[in-house]
Amino acid sequence: MSLIFYIFFIFATLSYIFECQDTIPYQVSSNVYQIEETQAIIYKSFTKNKWRYSLYDQNGAIQATYVIEGLQDLAKSYYFIEQNNHLYLYTDNQPNYQLIDLNLLTNNGSGYLTSGVIQNANNPCSSGGMIRKYGTYYFLICSTPLFYLQEVSLSALQQTTQKYPYTVYTLSQSYLMFDSSLLVYKNNLFTNLSNVSSAGYILVDLQFDIFLQDLKLCKGLLDINSKTFSCSKIVDLHANNEQSVLISKVFQSNGVYQLQCLTSFQINTFQFFKMNLIFGRDQNVGRFNVYNAMTLDLINRVGSSITNQAVQLEFIQYGYNLYTAKNCQYTALYNPNTNNVQISQAFSNLPDNYMLVNPPFYNFNFQQGSTIFLSQGSNRFLYNINQIYQMCSNTQYIQLDSTCGSSCPVTAFIDNSTKKCYCDKNTIILDKSSCTCQKNYYIQNTNQCKICTPYCQNCVSQNSCQSCQSGFNLQADGTCKCNDGTYLNKNQCLSCFEGFSLFSNTCQEQYLHYNSDIFTQSRINQAKDQIQSSSEASLAGTTILSSIQNIISQSSFGILTNSLICQKLSFLILIDVPIPAQIYQPLTAMKDQFPTNQFKMLNYFEPLLSKDQNQYQNARYEIVGISFNILQTCGQSTIIFGICIFIFGTFYILIKYIKSGRVLSIVVLIYQKLFSGFLIQFFQLISTMFVIGVNQQLKQFFFDINGSLPIGLQINLTKKSNNQYDFVQLNKEKILNGAVYNDKIRRNFMIIYLFFESFLIPTLYIQFSFTWKITSTVCIALQFFELSIITLYMPFESKLSNGYFIVNNFLWLGLYIQYLIINIICKKPDINNYSKELDILSYSALITIQIVILQQSAYIIIALLVELYEYIKLKRQKKQNSFTINKSNNNIDSSFTQHNDISSLKINKNLMQQKLKLSYYEREMVQQKQFNSLVSNQVWVRIQPRNKDTKNNIL
Ligand SMILES: *[C@@H]1O[C@H](CO)[C@@H](O)[C@H](O)[C@H]1NC(C)=O
Ligand SMILES: *[C@@H]1O[C@H](CO)[C@@H](O)[C@H](O)[C@H]1NC(C)=O
Ligand SMILES: *[C@@H]1O[C@H](CO)[C@@H](O)[C@H](O)[C@H]1NC(C)=O
Ligand SMILES: *[C@@H]1O[C@H](CO)[C@@H](O)[C@H](O)[C@H]1NC(C)=O
Repeated sequence: MSLIFYIFFIFATLSYIFECQDTIPYQVSSNVYQIEETQAIIYKSFTKNKWRYSLYDQNGAIQATYVIEGLQDLAKSYYFIEQNNHLYLYTDNQPNYQLIDLNLLTNNGSGYLTSGVIQNANNPCSSGGMIRKYGTYYFLICSTPLFYLQEVSLSALQQTTQKYPYTVYTLSQSYLMFDSSLLVYKNNLFTNLSNVSSAGYILVDLQFDIFLQDLKLCKGLLDINSKTFSCSKIVDLHANNEQSVLISKVFQSNGVYQLQCLTSFQINTFQFFKMNLIFGRDQNVGRFNVYNAMTLDLINRVGSSITNQAVQLEFIQYGYNLYTAKNCQYTALYNPNTNNVQISQAFSNLPDNYMLVNPPFYNFNFQQGSTIFLSQGSNRFLYNINQIYQMCSNTQYIQLDSTCGSSCPVTAFIDNSTKKCYCDKNTIILDKSSCTCQKNYYIQNTNQCKICTPYCQNCVSQNSCQSCQSGFNLQADGTCKCNDGTYLNKNQCLSCFEGFSLFSNTCQEQYLHYNSDIFTQSRINQAKDQIQSSSEASLAGTTILSSIQNIISQSSFGILTNSLICQKLSFLILIDVPIPAQIYQPLTAMKDQFPTNQFKMLNYFEPLLSKDQNQYQNARYEIVGISFNILQTCGQSTIIFGICIFIFGTFYILIKYIKSGRVLSIVVLIYQKLFSGFLIQFFQLISTMFVIGVNQQLKQFFFDINGSLPIGLQINLTKKSNNQYDFVQLNKEKILNGAVYNDKIRRNFMIIYLFFESFLIPTLYIQFSFTWKITSTVCIALQFFELSIITLYMPFESKLSNGYFIVNNFLWLGLYIQYLIINIICKKPDINNYSKELDILSYSALITIQIVILQQSAYIIIALLVELYEYIKLKRQKKQNSFTINKSNNNIDSSFTQHNDISSLKINKNLMQQKLKLSYYEREMVQQKQFNSLVSNQVWVRIQPRNKDTKNNIL
């Protein structure tokens, strides 16, 4: 609780002070009264119409301001301060005082202001009664009757009976004089004074005790012991009245170097020579003379003459600079070697409408540091004189905050002609004491701001951006690029409109936007999620299922067919037609399943390729991940190819050279059950990817796509999966995939199928993606041709396999036809008239795509179920016919024993056990084919007829 209060208190205090912090220039509507003891001024705000008490620093800049509520207006007022910071304000010849408790005021208390009259009961005034304090002396000055009281304290003053008559008094804040009989000055009383006329003594300079004695310059000589005040030197300026006395303030001129010889070290050093000067205008000759302020000795003046018929109010001065209005500014530099003062007209073109407020300069004219009380027309301001006149002493420079300093900040430049510190034009001045480069600039050679690379927020050198402007991404090379998916347009990173996607800084239309009744964005997202998850699930499902299937059957396709399906679906995107979003987005959602992307991490060439070598034909190709560069498209296949070749080679060597029959049989089993299926499918995939890669590279080569780099052509594609046919018959088995062996077309169906799917269709899509009519029509024709072959020839023993291929081809044919129609509609200019048709077509296309993705898994599941069913059926049969089987087995055994050596017998035994577990799926195959297609091993050839018998027995 108390903490909260404390925080609130601090906040309230700060906000109060901040609210009242006056910044210069500040317009006032009164004189500015300087309270030297507390380094403060009292003045009335012009806009807020309230009296204020402000603390200032050595430059006169205001540090804190307190509003004095209720203060009566001051005019020609004087103050004195009692102990406890009690400030008494008296206006000349008025008995009423206003008393401000400064402690209360500056602590934001209340009751800081009181007022009253201090009278002496013994000697009452009928008018007047002002109290003044000089040092330790207190005076009560009565104007009627004319007398004054003098005591050592306020209370003594109220009780004293001793009073002194006077005729006239002269006073300022720092001295008081009654007639020619008493001068109170610097806490001394002087009674032996020279007789003067009514002009009396007027204090000009407290430090050098310069007075005007009857309008003549007088160098005061203070003899405290004899209480004698006299003039040690008097200079007559022939002035008639106080207004015509034109003198400057005493100022210090130190512009010239003084050579100083240090004899002991024989080293010359330089020193500034300081000399205090005062200007006085001799009205008889109409020119300014320069005097030594210490002695009032005349000093030779050289250089420009100050020609203006200047009046007192225009005689503004700061440091060694004089400003005499009407665009005239002078500097006065004392040269100790010649004992001359060099007057130079500094520069013109200055504002001429500023003046002191009160004549003469020594009356109520506040000046502290560079802050000065000036009038401009009828308005009065607290101004910073450097801001107006750029005035600093000879060796000083006008700082960034208009104060004077001996040197410029290291982050600033020096202008020697104007003696000004200034910042590079590309800076922001944050703290007024140093220059800070703007954003997107960095500092060089301490004070220059150099531009960073474009869109950089800050950098330490030209090419090393530390952070980018918002919307931009820092690149490895230290530059800033638009965030992914945005492009640069008129210094802004913009995103493409819906349906467009960014490709090399232009927005390419990707999909179509039309007034669909069905396909809202949420529906599209749903479809997208569905397709994505089913493609993922299908990938996982088919991989697991077909791994199982691979072990228990001859079938080889399945594991990667899903990738190939995704690949084939991805081609649909490549066609240069903006298809509806509901088809486009789901298709792109599967992009992780596209083989190029799926095996990306295996592409060890990728890091070797520089980024600009990865060029895509357009955004669609980029999404599918097919670039021009063959290393990018086929790099991973090269690696997979290498791995496959290694496994392939290893088993080749093992099977060829292993002598031990038992080991050999295990190796054959492992290869057949685990690896061959995978290898063959990977070769399929690799060949597809190579076809794509080569096609892309060729396209780039022949069509000379703008700006693309002709690289990657040197890559030697000597090895193709097709070369592997003459390897072990084991592979042939898998490649044939259970095809009917006795017919040429049937036997080679898988090759035809592969040629279509892995070569013709990708080639077609890549080479002709720009003409959708050709692509789609030819595709339909190819698919139709493929379907015809299957339906006519039924190339597989298995009805299920045939069925699958028919269904698959049929679905694709359907999809291609739907896609063609969609393309035709999408090319229509009045697309919105066809929105219903498009909706229906999209819907059916989406369903087809779903089925295409899922059919693979469905097929494998059905196949597995059938096998399971067959297995159970077989077991039951086995129980029923156990005798027959046993018998036949015995027969087989005995016949093998008779005709073969031991090793072949053992292999044969294995084979027999395998055969017993044969599934329906495999039993459909003609056993002749089974053995013809097996390795042309002597052993296998010999057992062939026996096996036939066995099989017959089982059935
Ligand atoms: C200071 O005074 C002002 C008004 O005079 C008032 O609003 C503010 O709450 C005061 N702050 C404190 C801490 O008393
Ligand atoms: C000053 O004048 C008074 C009379 O007005 C005279 O008595 C006195 O001697 C004079 N003193 C000097 C120093 O002239
Ligand atoms: C008064 O001053 C004059 C000169 O200004 C001097 O000659 C005289 O001795 C002084 N008188 C006294 C009493 O000191
Ligand atoms: C400005 O003057 C200083 C000191 O006299 C000197 O070192 C500097 O080189 C001068 N600069 C220019 C720009 O003339």
